[in-house]
Parts: sequence; C-alpha cells; structure tokens
Amino acid sequence: MDDRIRAVKEKALEQIERAQSLGELEAVRVRYLGRKGEIPLLLKTIGTLPPEERPSFGAEVNSLRERVEQALERKRQELERQVIEARVTEEKVDTSLPGQYFEPGALHPLTRALRDIIGIFYGMGFTVYESRETETDEMNFVKLNIAPGHPARDMQETFYLTESTLLRTHTSPGQVRGMLSMAGELPVRFVVPGRVYRRDPTDASHHPVFHQVEGLAVDTDVSFCDLRGVVMSFAKRFFGEETRIRLRPSYFPFTEPSCEVDVSCVLCKGKGCSVCGNSGWLEVAGAGMVHPNVIRNGGYDPERVTGFAFGFGLDRLAMLKYGIDDIRLFYSNDKRFLSQFRGF
Ligand code: DAH
Repeated sequence: MDDRIRAVKEKALEQIERAQSLGELEAVRVRYLGRKGEIPLLLKTIGTLPPEERPSFGAEVNSLRERVEQALERKRQELERQVIEARVTEEKVDTSLPGQYFEPGALHPLTRALRDIIGIFYGMGFTVYESRETETDEMNFVKLNIAPGHPARDMQETFYLTESTLLRTHTSPGQVRGMLSMAGELPVRFVVPGRVYRRDPTDASHHPVFHQVEGLAVDTDVSFCDLRGVVMSFAKRFFGEETRIRLRPSYFPFTEPSCEVDVSCVLCKGKGCSVCGNSGWLEVAGAGMVHPNVIRNGGYDPERVTGFAFGFGLDRLAMLKYGIDDIRLFYSNDKRFLSQFRGF
C-alpha cells in the first residue's frame, strides 16, 4: 500500500475512534471526506503518478474511503447510543421514591350523627325540610308566640343582621316555613336539621353555633301519645333498645302542653354518674303539642288538625353517643379529634 494512503488511513481511523461527540465526529468526516478533505486530495494527486501505478492507487484510495465511511458510521451509531443512554439515565423516573400520602378523610361526627338520626326518622315516615339560617324576627319569634318584649326572648339572645333579621336561635321557625311549603296538604311529617346561633358564654357544653333537629307532625288525629311513641322509638334506635325516656312538664310558648324529654343515662344506664349529675337521666329535647296559633301561622286550621313538635340538640346527642365531653371539639378543626372518626 502506498505510504501516504497508509498514513491517512491510520490518522483517520484513530481520530474517528477518539471522537467524543457527534460534533467532533462530523469535524473528522469533513477533514477526510469533505470536498477539500484529505481523501479527495489524495485522489487529485493521481495525475502525478506513473500511468501503471494509477489504477492500483485509485483502487486503494477508494477502499480507504469505504473503510473510513464504515468507521464513521459505526462510530456515529455508538455515539448516538451513548447520547440516548445518557438521557435515559438522566431522565429516569425514580419509582422507588415514596409517593405523596393522602390522609383518608372522615365524616364529621355531627354529620354522622345527623345521618343516623335522619335515617331513623325516615323509617317513621318523616322527610327532611331544610329551612334557613338567617331568619326574620317575625318567624324566629312572633309566629311562635314570642311577641316583642316576651321574656322567652331573654333566653335566646342572638346576632342581629338588621333591626328585623337575625341568625335563627332555634330550628322551630322551620315548623312554620315547612307547614307553609305544604300549602295545606296532610299529613305534615318532617324534621328540620341545621345550625342555630346564640349569644351564649362558651364552655364545655355551650357554643355560639350549635345544631338542632326539629320535628313536626300535623294531621287530623295526632295526639300526645304519638309524640311519646315517636320520641321513644327514636331514643331506642339511636342510643340502644335498653334506653328509657321520661317526659317532664315544661313550658314553651309555641307548644301547649309542653315537656322536656329525658333519656336514661347512656353511660350509667340510669344508676347515676357524673355525666347525668347522679340523676340517671339526661335532658335531650323540648317537645309538646303544637300551639293552635302556630298551626294557624302555618296555614292550617287548629279546629281541624293537631300536631306535635320536638327539638333535639344534635351536638348533645352526638356527644352522648360518641362519649365526647366538650362541645368545642366539634368546632376546633383538631385532626387528633376528627381522625378518631375515620372508618367508623
Ligand atoms: N326551640 C326550642 C329551643 O330551642 C326547643 C323546642 C321545644 C322545640 C319544644 C320544639 C318544641 O319543637 O316543641 O329551646
């Protein structure tokens, strides 16, 4: 082989082998195969050779070109593979990294208790009437026999939005609104669950926002016995079959007669403990036969129909059922408390 060809071949193959990048490799290609590269230049020198050497010289340069082209192609593939491998390693998703942990949520204990309660009343033929949280003074008080200046107002101080509108102090105005929505149809049988507001001092059993579940049944033959039966069935289903109830005479302006509903203490089963103040009984609701004026305000004729009503404190029911000793826990958004109701 011609010495010059051999020299070019060795240099070219070595430089191809040493190329670190596709850019470097391209520079090597131009240097040897480009228009003014070393191999075309070699070919141009063919004219300076004696005629008998020309064919073999030409053939050697051509095989050199082929050899260099093959080496370039092999190196190009190798470098391209390296580039891809580098990217694959660099961009790899590390599937062994711990993922983000989403804590499972849970129903708020008041929601849980309310769902239970609504389910029990559904079973006795009651539907749900959702009333409103902002009320008129008229609905919250006057339509329930609590005229301006009535002493019953002193027990239910609230937050006024204007002279005549306020945050409702109880769910009882839902009785009137619910009856009006029935437009005289019978029977009336619904519960009104929801938030109520009072300007009370806050302590373990008082909070300015709390919840009630009102109940109302109106028909042509509703008696106090029906009230007693419904309240007793509810208490047994909510707290357990062994639960007993006691009705104590009381006074509410919107019922006549009125009573307080006690259930046998769910903790000591009536023996007497610190929760029931050693009496064995827990007060859970106010109730009574709906006052004729209220029936009339709801659009019904008190000469033709009678009704009973009750108002449970939802927070108190939930506290007793789940053994919670401070009402403020319901409203403090403390995950240590709330997470205990997960998967309940
Ligand atoms: N609204 C009363 C309160 O908040 C509770 C109540 C008593 C509701 C007697 C009633 C009832 O429906 O008949 O203190």
